[in-house]
Parts: sequence; structure tokens; C-alpha cells
Amino acid sequence: MKLCVVGTGYVGLVTGTCLAEMGNDVTCVDIDAEKIRLLNSGIMPIYEPGLDELVRANTTEGRLSFTTDLATAVQESQACFIAVGTPQGEDGSADLNAVFAVGKAIGQAMTTKPTGYKAIVTKSTVPVGTAEKLQAIVAEQTTQPFSVVSNPEFLKQGDAVDDCLKPDRVIVGTVPNDQAAIDLMRELYSPYLRTGNPIIMMDIRSAEMTKYVANAFLATKISFINEMSQLCDGLGADIAQVQVGISTDRRIGGQFLYPGLGYGGSCFPKDVKALIRTADEHHCPASIIRSVDTVNQRQRSLFLDKIMHFFGGSVAGKTIAFWGLAFKPRTDDLREAPSVTLAEGLIASGARVQAFDPKAMEAARQHYLGETITYCASAYDAVKNADALVLVTEWNEFRRPDFEKVKALMKTPVLFDGRNQYDPDRMAERGFHYLSVGRPVLSPCNGNPAEVATVQPSEKTLAAV
Ligand SMILES: NC(=O)c1ccc[n+]([C@@H]2O[C@H](COP(=O)([O-])OP(=O)(O)OC[C@H]3O[C@@H](n4cnc5c(N)ncnc54)[C@H](O)[C@@H]3O)[C@@H](O)[C@H]2O)c1
Repeated sequence: MKLCVVGTGYVGLVTGTCLAEMGNDVTCVDIDAEKIRLLNSGIMPIYEPGLDELVRANTTEGRLSFTTDLATAVQESQACFIAVGTPQGEDGSADLNAVFAVGKAIGQAMTTKPTGYKAIVTKSTVPVGTAEKLQAIVAEQTTQPFSVVSNPEFLKQGDAVDDCLKPDRVIVGTVPNDQAAIDLMRELYSPYLRTGNPIIMMDIRSAEMTKYVANAFLATKISFINEMSQLCDGLGADIAQVQVGISTDRRIGGQFLYPGLGYGGSCFPKDVKALIRTADEHHCPASIIRSVDTVNQRQRSLFLDKIMHFFGGSVAGKTIAFWGLAFKPRTDDLREAPSVTLAEGLIASGARVQAFDPKAMEAARQHYLGETITYCASAYDAVKNADALVLVTEWNEFRRPDFEKVKALMKTPVLFDGRNQYDPDRMAERGFHYLSVGRPVLSPCNGNPAEVATVQPSEKTLAAV
């Protein structure tokens, strides 16, 4: 099938490539001419495992191409996917300007050169009611036949290619009995669902809502376990043991129940806020999701407070090493990343930050932290002469470092583990002051059984709990 995907970011590029991989003829469109130039030169504008090879293979086979010429791409396609960004607007709602601009341009292209029926498929995450507005915008521009379809995307950055090629389920929202759209979407997705995973057809509003409910639920799990970790910090209980204790209950399960620095990225923070905004518009209290957002923000400030407290309330003149900058491992994305909040907070308090991330340093330098921090060539370079190390992103390569070497390179062996990656007892045996999330604080014990250190959560931390 001839298809175009408008918006060549994390979702659009992965979607377009995976559609081409199944034999479709796909044109990826973007308004960003530099991004298209890079892609046409074989350079990936983003890091996503496995994507590079797949893009290369499909462009070589002639099934995947990149352009800024939206009109031609639309005119040659049976289905046009919209995968542009829907960032958070000033009032917390999703900013739909790009989605509507693309809708208008698609309608205009259909009028300039009519080439028959088209499905206009929204992959971007958009609030309930957007499809109806999009329908009206396109209809203002053209009398040619078209359907608007909602097809929300559930891929996870870091595993996006796999998620896209083997989705747990595909959600498709159409106008009831829009057989042309239903048939087209079934045909398009049939190669991805050979193992029996379902394609779930529903009305458009429910499809749009499904995406927000899914993200809000996952964000709720994260904030829930983080709030419990705050309590554990105050009570001297160990969230890691609690986590095992609850996740072995099959009704609860273990996924998304890892305490840490709170959720980040381009989806959960903005989607939770957009859902709160939608709830406000409909006079629904939405108290759970409101708290989810509050707990998430508090989780970061409490961790910052933990670092400050360890240094007696001031980090002025201290050198703090960061391992990881990306909002999660296996991506170069820093949107809403805890690293940015932590770095800004520490720098504002007079600390120096020196960091290493396997993939996200260029994005950090260009778009988020500029030259306010020092970018290091390796994890070991980052800890040289540091007063403390903060594990911010749990990349695999930080799992089993040579801690003897780390300790030798650091000015003082202090480790703040924002992802609970290491064993507190082992870290104390290795001679580190080790502080993590919701677990007892241990001081170096030089071979003796781990002892509880004098470093306790601050008044502020306890008050927040
Ligand atoms: N990133 C994720 O993990 C993820 C997962 C599921 C859903 N989503 C949703 O998918 C959408 C896209 O997310 P993303 O992370 O890929 O965003 P992104 O910012 O990485 O990419 C968006 C792309 O759209 C392009 N664009 C903007 N306006 C345009 C226009 N008028 N014409 C053509 N191109 C235009 C931008 O230049 C950019 O390349 C959002 O609604 C997001 O909420 C994202």
C-alpha cells in the first residue's frame, strides 16, 4: 500500500520504517528540512536501537523515502498518518496546532490534485474530540472522499522498533460502520498480528481516550511506588523488599513498580497534565491523576534534598558526577528528564556537574543543558575528583562497574543511586556512603555487617512524607 507518515520524530520515523518493513511504500514527511536532509544522507537524527539498520535496509530497497513535500506525498498515498508532536500547551492542554496544520495541508493537497479516497490516521496522542475537529478542518479544504481514523501509538522509546513490529494490541477508532476505513486498517495491520494479538475496533472518542487512560494508569503505578518509597525513607523500611513482597501477588504484578526519580519523557508528564486539563473542562475532580503529577514532581525535589542534606545543606564548590542524562536507558531523549531538574538544582546551589551518558550527551548539550555541565568521555572520566556520584539513568553499562576504580578516582566515595540499581550492603562493604530511593542508608563498614548511618532523611523529606 502507498502510505505517508507526516512527522518524522520518534513515533513517525519508527512507524514509517516498520510500515515499509512489511512491504508498504512509505514516504516520511517533516517540516524540518535539516532532519530530512540528514535522513536522506543516511544519518539518523535520533537514537533508537535497531532503527538505523531498518531504515537503511528499507531505503535501499526503495520502500522508504523522506521529503518535505507534503502535498506530493499525500497525493500519492492511500493513507496518511499524522505523527507530529502534541506538546504541552501553556494551560497544560495538548497543543494541537501541528496536527491541525497538517490536516489543513492534507485537505489542500487532496483538492489541488484529486487522487481518490484517503484515510487520515492520527497516531499523535490527542485529546478526545480531536478527530471531529480534524474532520471539519479537512472538509473545509476538500470535497474529496476521506475518513478520519484514530490509531494511537503505544511504543516505548528504547524498544520502539520491537513494539511497533510486534504490538500487544492495535487500537483503531473509526466512525461506526466506516467500512472503507475499517477494511484498510485491518489489511494494513494484518502482518503485525500473526501471533494472535488483537486489533481492537472502537469508536473514535474511545480510541482517543484509551491512549490517555493507558498512560495515566502507568504513570499512576510509578507515582504510587514512589510515594511508598518516600514513606519507606521516613520509616526505615526497605522499598526493594516491599516491592518483591507485593509484585509476587499476581493481582498486582511487577511492571512499572520500580521506585526511582519519577517518570519523564515526552509522554507521561504531558499526557497526565492534558488529562487533568480535560477533566477540569468537564468539572471532574480527577483527584488520582492530579496526585500522580504532584508525587512525580516531589520525587525529584526530595532526591535533590537528599543530596543537599548529605552535604550539610550546601553543595557549593562540590563536584557531582552524573551517570546518565537520558530520561530512560536506550534513548537519547531528554524531554522532561530528571537529569535536567537535578543538574539545574545542583548548579543553582553552586555545584559543578560532570556527566557521562552513552547516547544523550549531544542532545543535552544542544537542547537542554548547554555548557552548564561538563560532558565526559566515559563513566570513569565522569567520576574523577567527584565529591559524589549520582546514578541518574540505569543504562546497562552502569550495572557492574569496577567500583574499586570508581572509588579510587573519586574525591570521596559517595553514591546516590536514583534507580536502586546496587545492593546497599555490598556498597557499604565496598566503602561507599550509599543512598538510594526508599531504602535504609548505610555508611561504609569495611567488612563489618552493614550499619545504619547517621545520614537520615532531612526534616523537609520527613515533612513531605
Ligand atoms: N515518543 C513516544 O514514545 C511516543 C509514544 C506514543 C505516542 N507518542 C505521541 O506521538 C506524537 C509524536 O511524538 P514524538 O515523540 O515522535 O515527537 P517528536 O517531537 O519526536 O516528532 C515530531 C515531529 O513532527 C514534526 N512536525 C511538527 N510539525 C509538523 C508539520 N506541520 N508538518 C510536518 N512535520 C511536523 C517535527 O519536526 C518532528 O520531527 C506525540 O503526540 C506523542 O505524544 C509519542
